[in-house]
Amino acid sequence: MTRRPLVAGNWKMNGLSASIGELERIVAGARMLANVDLMVCPPATLLARFAGAARGSHVAIGAQDCHAQPCGAYTGDIAAEMLKDAGASAVIVGHSERRQLHDESDATVRAKALAARRAGLTAIVCVGETRNERDAGRAHEVVGAQLEGSLPDGGHDFIIAYEPVWAIGTGVTPTPDDVRGMHGFVRARLAARFGQMAEAIRILYGGSVKPSNAKELLTVEQVDGALVGGASLKADEFLAIAGVYR
Ligand code: 13P
Repeated sequence: MTRRPLVAGNWKMNGLSASIGELERIVAGARMLANVDLMVCPPATLLARFAGAARGSHVAIGAQDCHAQPCGAYTGDIAAEMLKDAGASAVIVGHSERRQLHDESDATVRAKALAARRAGLTAIVCVGETRNERDAGRAHEVVGAQLEGSLPDGGHDFIIAYEPVWAIGTGVTPTPDDVRGMHGFVRARLAARFGQMAEAIRILYGGSVKPSNAKELLTVEQVDGALVGGASLKADEFLAIAGVYR
């Protein structure tokens, strides 16, 4: 089975209305990239504007988090249905920054992934071990448990992002062999749980992806694209990363 690659940009808490120009450059550049899906995940404040600017292009717009409930007394939170209404087609759930800074458990992440499904959004479910966990030889065990607890049953309509926590924003990346090992492990776990259907699930790599290392990381077997943080804020860098699939 051939999975169409996806390069998604997670803007995190960056971007003001003036950033629309960067998105427009991404949309323009995407016309040259027929073999890869592109996605930009801006902060919620820019979703509707970005969705309008990307309409008709093959750049999808995603959100960075959602609440598990469809509505209610949850001051400051945003429901998956609201993200969909604003023009998102996907939502990142369980990013390590949410797991660490907002104490999100696997059960919370699973509830959010189910909310995404309910609203008609594709969940991008993030998993990844810390440096200590890797050094202790527990990377596969930790990621296996996160997959077990965070993925919903009853479908295979999500995307996985493997993001080793120690590679996020550090400039340090795993070796291609380590990436191959982990993506192969995730693929095997998906196959064990979802059977043949697991073949359709894309597994992205995330953590310090830059134009200079994109080819080495994204051409590894079982890597179906990237979830890019810092380098996705600049259209030129983001497009250069996606250009690996030219
Ligand atoms: P960086 O690309 O800035 O390391 O961030 C990766 C990430 O967390 C994407 O979700």
